[in-house]
Amino acid sequence: MPAIKMGKVTDLPPGRSLEKRIMARRIAVFNDGGRLYGIESDCKHMRASLANGDVADGVVTCRWHGWKYDLETGECLTNDGFRLKRYDVTVIGDDIILET
Ligand code: FES
Repeated sequence: MPAIKMGKVTDLPPGRSLEKRIMARRIAVFNDGGRLYGIESDCKHMRASLANGDVADGVVTCRWHGWKYDLETGECLTNDGFRLKRYDVTVIGDDIILET
């Protein structure tokens, strides 16, 4: 599986995200209280970027219409049956690496 360098640890303070577009999809790494999560970042509702969403307690909330997603599992907490793809995240030196 390809690994994607998302940025430096210093670029990702708590409550923020780093996003990249890979072909037709967006992926992001979120920092929730120091814990990093890798996840698809196209909201399943109307494809707004979740990278701009609010992050708290392991959940990202889409800024457009408020759909919520569990950052650990990708499960949509607002509407059953929707799930974002999740990715493993590793930190090597100062680099944040996402395994796709
Ligand atoms: S686009 Fe995300 S909730 Fe509507």
